[in-house]
Amino acid sequence: NWTPAHFIETTVDAIRKQVGTGHAICALSGGVDSAVAAVLVAKAIGDRLTCIFVNNGVLRKNEFAQVQANMREKLGLKVVAVDASKRFLQQLGGITDPETKRKIIGREFITVFDDEAARILKEQEKHGELQQDAKGNEIAWLVQGTLYPDVIESSSVKGPSQTIKSHHNVGGLPENMKLKLIEPLRDLFKDEVRRVGRDLGMPDDVLDRQPFPGPGLAVRIVGEITPERVEILQNADDIVVFEIKKAGLYKKIWQSFAVLLPVKSVGVMGDQRTYAYTCAIRAVHSEDGMTADWVPLPYEVLKTISSRIVNEVRGINRVVYDITSKPPGTIEWE
Ligand code: XMP
Repeated sequence: NWTPAHFIETTVDAIRKQVGTGHAICALSGGVDSAVAAVLVAKAIGDRLTCIFVNNGVLRKNEFAQVQANMREKLGLKVVAVDASKRFLQQLGGITDPETKRKIIGREFITVFDDEAARILKEQEKHGELQQDAKGNEIAWLVQGTLYPDVIESSSVKGPSQTIKSHHNVGGLPENMKLKLIEPLRDLFKDEVRRVGRDLGMPDDVLDRQPFPGPGLAVRIVGEITPERVEILQNADDIVVFEIKKAGLYKKIWQSFAVLLPVKSVGVMGDQRTYAYTCAIRAVHSEDGMTADWVPLPYEVLKTISSRIVNEVRGINRVVYDITSKPPGTIEWE
């Protein structure tokens, strides 16, 4: 019978044998799967694993710094952080179509990741650190947090987090350099990944994180994405997450978040008339994201979230609550 301890032992052993004295790279998303995959590989080969974490400009408030701190200090991973937010936001400028937003983010992510991976590998090549295969090609390893459901459903590719999973060929590498794939989680379901992470001693705030889409806040800003709108939504989202956690509900809810609507309405603030955006609050229960029920959040929690957002977030003067289940609604608004 399957136990996390046994899985960890055999997997780490297998990785150690497979990679030998080689080097590996891994894209971190900030989520559970890539983190557990990275920790397993690091347990096998130590700092010959280099992780890459990209700021795509649509992360949550403080997430770029927080994920780096978690991964380095709490998980002991070697992390190269790339702040590419300007270039993502530039490319997203003027785009309102949800699928186009996804495509741009996926494409930019691959470009940024490839550039960084190629830079790291060339550096290792220069120091003569890369292994060679029988044909004299230099090889390194690419770690991906692919899970069993991704393996069987690889046709339902949706966004960058999935795009990276199906992305085996890093561009910009010299002809004689090859990447080989390691997918240590490809036989596991999500709950097993969490159990493995717990057994590895990983902290709860990494393991119990609610799912966050690869395109991030881009699909929670309905309409055009501007730096100003990103900041407004980051501030509102931060309050939602804080209050849901404070109420002890964060782990019991599949996803809870704020959505910024391109709708402005009139309000009053003191003796001033305001004209500002509307924010929708969404909270759903779900098993797998395929179907979902809206959560009847306690009125007190809704009340605190609403009054904090309109009082503390400049740019929002109205808060509404989304009471749509899936189907017919989707979880995200885009
Ligand atoms: P929907 O909105 O389709 O979402 O009901 C179902 C689940 O998928 C997540 N989601 C995404 N995840 N890239 C991702 O990595 C995406 O483009 C994307 N779109 C939606 C969503 O957060 C929910 O958990």
